[in-house]
Amino acid sequence: MDQGEQFPITRRDLLITGAVSATLPVLPAFAAQPGTESQGSTANTTQVALNVNGTGHALDLDPRTTLLDALREHLHLTGTKKGCDHGQCGACTVLVDGVRINACLSLAVMHEGDTITTIEGLGSPDNLHPMQAAFIKHDGYQCGYCTPGQICSAVAVLGEIKAGVPSHVTQDLTATLDATNMEMRERMSGNICRCGAYSNIAEAMAEVARSRA
Ligand code: FES
Ligand code: FES
Repeated sequence: MDQGEQFPITRRDLLITGAVSATLPVLPAFAAQPGTESQGSTANTTQVALNVNGTGHALDLDPRTTLLDALREHLHLTGTKKGCDHGQCGACTVLVDGVRINACLSLAVMHEGDTITTIEGLGSPDNLHPMQAAFIKHDGYQCGYCTPGQICSAVAVLGEIKAGVPSHVTQDLTATLDATNMEMRERMSGNICRCGAYSNIAEAMAEVARSRA
């Protein structure tokens, strides 16, 4: 038996077949995998009323939509950033009833009736929040990607200290809490800055804390 009889399809035939199949359009039967919904589907959406930066919004959302995606993709409030989408970087930090949360770890449907504040609601270019002004004054950023989350977190951190909420480094649980460098750095440890602007961020926070003492 010669080689042609043993292997009737040559390597050249295979290459030609492969090249042709790669140019074929994807057949609908293979494009729509079982369990995959098309973009236009509204079969599994639900009405959600959100109060964001003082404005009420009625949204029709997939109940699995995170608060972060609701803010960015549906309300187009893109100041809140998506870094890791896994609760590891703090870029998505927003305030809910004055408390900071990672918006990527929370579903939008959980926040009906809550007061949500994003970086856009803290201040405006004409009327900056004191923390925004302090970040600018102390160069508390470089690329700026983490900055909205840093500022929202910083605002909440000073509120936590003022309210006497202890942290991992609080030594005396009975004493009045001060906004020490150690307290602020520990509380800000969930907000990662790849540009390493940490010292400047701490200076900005210290200035705001001093102005409120
Ligand atoms: Fe939410 Fe990183 S995007 S913690
Ligand atoms: Fe660039 Fe923080 S300023 S990641």
